[in-house]
Amino acid sequence: MAATKQPIIVIGAGTMGRGIAQVFAQSGYEVHLNDAIPKALDDGVAFINKMLDRSVEKGMLHAEEAFAVKNRLHPARHLAATPKCPLIIEAATEKPDIKTEILKAAQTRLTDDGILATNTSSISITQLAAATQRPDRFIGMHFFNPVPLMKLVEVVKGLQTSDDTARQTVAHAQAVGKTPVQCNDHPGFVSNRILMPMINEAVFTLQDGVAEPAAIDEIMKLGMNHPMGPLALADLVGLDVCLFILEVLHRDLGEDRYRPCPLLRKMVAAGRLGRKSKHGFYKYE
Ligand code: CAA
Repeated sequence: MAATKQPIIVIGAGTMGRGIAQVFAQSGYEVHLNDAIPKALDDGVAFINKMLDRSVEKGMLHAEEAFAVKNRLHPARHLAATPKCPLIIEAATEKPDIKTEILKAAQTRLTDDGILATNTSSISITQLAAATQRPDRFIGMHFFNPVPLMKLVEVVKGLQTSDDTARQTVAHAQAVGKTPVQCNDHPGFVSNRILMPMINEAVFTLQDGVAEPAAIDEIMKLGMNHPMGPLALADLVGLDVCLFILEVLHRDLGEDRYRPCPLLRKMVAAGRLGRKSKHGFYKYE
């Protein structure tokens, strides 16, 4: 059984926040999972419990360990009710204004010299850090979906992030069994600067009538040895999230090559957001 470690706070119980909370709880941390929306919090905790139960059924986790993990997970509707922690990971909505407000509130829950990390996939770390009192203790900790299965944490240093903050963040990622890789703050960081143009090009390929979605995905899966095709991956990430990231790349890098495909815009406008709306490039039960 994993030893109990220092407590952390995860803000946001959506797809990413719940995955991050699960991974830290499974690694022995006391996790305070905060979401101001009661249903989102309930759904997040229920999802984690379901995943733990399934791991037990599959013989990948002992029932006692699953019980202990569930006990290390503390749902918190109010951030003010959480204890002060040395690490807070924000994984709330990708809206800069809302994020900034959440981060300002979050910094009051940090212990002295605690680290405030954001899981943003594209908003500038330097810009978010500037809204906090300790930009030197602010950093990007970018996890990948599905968090319990994906090894990478992209550790993103803002202009003012200290080397000590980066070093401690790397240690936190390693402590939960992830492989941290460092980069500097720049639109899209490394991951999405490369991934999103590929997804966008797949949507242009579909729009141009070159092939059906299943054929585009199969070609990329079998020809490039990718675990899933770019359109299926866009459905997993969320088409609204892909569009948002492409808009950031297009605006902040100022290059036409990042222009979001009109078909992507159309699908988001129609509410076809991928797996989360049960309809994207594919339909889901
Ligand atoms: N806890 C425990 N188990 C979990 C789980 C969780 N939270 N989430 C999923 N699982 C389980 C599933 O339930 C499934 O188990 P069952 O078979 O019992 O249902 C198992 O893990 C996965 O099994 P699969 O057969 O689906 O696994 P796979 O070999 O097909 O791999 C995959 C699935 C890992 C998603 C793989 O297709 C893959 O690597 N795809 C690419 C994913 C990717 O690129 N992600 C990054 C997206 S970009 C991003 O996230 C960042 C951004 O900023 C946009």
